[in-house]
Amino acid sequence: MATNQIIKVLENLITDVPENRGVAPMKILMVGAEVYPYASVGGYAMVLNYLSRALAAKGHDVRVFMPKFGFIDKGTQFDLETVIEGLRVPTDDPSEPYLICNVKVHRTSAGVMTYFLENMEYYEKRANVYGYVDDAVRWALLSRGALEFIRTGMFIPDIIHTHDWHTSVLCDYVNRNYRDDDILNDISTVLTIHSMGHQGMFNHRHVSELDYDDGRSSVAALLSDRINKQNFLRRGILYADMLTTVSKTYAKEILTPEYGECLDKLLLEVRSKLVGIVNGLNNVDFNPSTDPLLAKNFDIHTLPNRVENKYALQDALGLPIKQDALVVGMLGRLDGQKGTDLAIKTMRHVLKDFNVQFVQVGGGDGGLAEQLRGLHAEFPTKVGIHPYPNFSNLPRLMFGGSDVMLFPSRFEPCGIVQMEAMRYGSIPIVRDIGGLADTVTAFNSITQEGTGLKFNDFNEFALFGQIVRAIELFQHKKLWNTLQKNAMSTDFSWSVRAQDYEKVYKAAQALHRKAFTRGVLDLD
Ligand code: GLC
Repeated sequence: MATNQIIKVLENLITDVPENRGVAPMKILMVGAEVYPYASVGGYAMVLNYLSRALAAKGHDVRVFMPKFGFIDKGTQFDLETVIEGLRVPTDDPSEPYLICNVKVHRTSAGVMTYFLENMEYYEKRANVYGYVDDAVRWALLSRGALEFIRTGMFIPDIIHTHDWHTSVLCDYVNRNYRDDDILNDISTVLTIHSMGHQGMFNHRHVSELDYDDGRSSVAALLSDRINKQNFLRRGILYADMLTTVSKTYAKEILTPEYGECLDKLLLEVRSKLVGIVNGLNNVDFNPSTDPLLAKNFDIHTLPNRVENKYALQDALGLPIKQDALVVGMLGRLDGQKGTDLAIKTMRHVLKDFNVQFVQVGGGDGGLAEQLRGLHAEFPTKVGIHPYPNFSNLPRLMFGGSDVMLFPSRFEPCGIVQMEAMRYGSIPIVRDIGGLADTVTAFNSITQEGTGLKFNDFNEFALFGQIVRAIELFQHKKLWNTLQKNAMSTDFSWSVRAQDYEKVYKAAQALHRKAFTRGVLDLD
């Protein structure tokens, strides 16, 4: 089948489904490493939860499959029930042919059942989701465990939806190891790429020719050393029936060497099955008019109430209480991806000359935390930092109390925090890339349209320019309030996104049925 014919079929499937035509209910199994609220490190966990719920609300039978980490049912926070004991997951190693697991379930009121793969050694004993030398084994076990779970017949989905390198290897197993399995054969696979930045347990940017994994051989035996050198993400890209990533702009960017992380050429070849769908935001869970974590609730009609949150934020971070200072916030993982270093460098110039305060919340990279401490030491009355994760009310106070928030990312597949900020009337200053480009529109002071401020180049001049613009706009209260109202009224609801995923699932089924994937990508 020629590539242009495949593109035609996909275009018809993806563009010709009328918005309001109901899609027949499907059975979907989401397989992922972290899922909110059970285990939540980043945006990935949120997407798995909210997307599943949005699809369930459309009438689909959506279930989630994840590891049973030791911390999940401590203190009976979640009431888990064992549904399978002694699930044998093959290792492909004759000396230890199976790893034995259990499957537990949590039934929620939101209509999405979550299954947990239980294994003492690989999940139960671990305090964290990521960061172990045997992570490749842990995610391969989860992927293969999900397939063995399906083979028991307890839940046979139409679609398996995998996420990032952790579970993308499932697409390889299903195409190769289970090729002749009557149950698994009929199931279509979708892989969502949340980030190209991690592809396996090795640095994909510095792979020697000897270690290069082209994805043609079988996945290595579960307990072998070789599994650490395999590129699970590449394998997912090769074998998934459909690929998505979390914004339209990132879907284009990853076809280039700048953002493709060494897989851009492969992605270019399979681009006919790649679709960008921007992430959403749950409007009920993130609502400034009802949020109990705020000092004072507000909406677009009661914006003056917002200042109480600004005072609470200044107080919490040890800053002088000042209404007229522009509070510039930064929230989230301390990570090179997020451009915290650029923000620090730029703020050093801004803080010297303007009536501005800088507040930061979020932990991670120790070097970046050190730079933040340095900035605080330089401007003790203008900088308030909390360089650790905060699961209490600081993030909400930042959304509801800061005036602007910075998003100077090096790359950003989607980004969720800028949507949260907008919903609470904090104006995002974003680099015009990836999901930041797709979720924020640049404010035009003449037409008074737009929801934030944008810059292009990753340098302090570009970021400085937009911060100074914010300082200026902030003086014009009417204009500023219009900008805030525009931002707060943007609709990021998951329900629209779920419709796009329905189309992707249909396309995956069509491709799978016609065995396009195997025809085009048969590498055995
Ligand atoms: C990753 C990406 C982020 C995205 C999130 C959820 O963390 O870095 O941009 O929003 O996944 O898809």
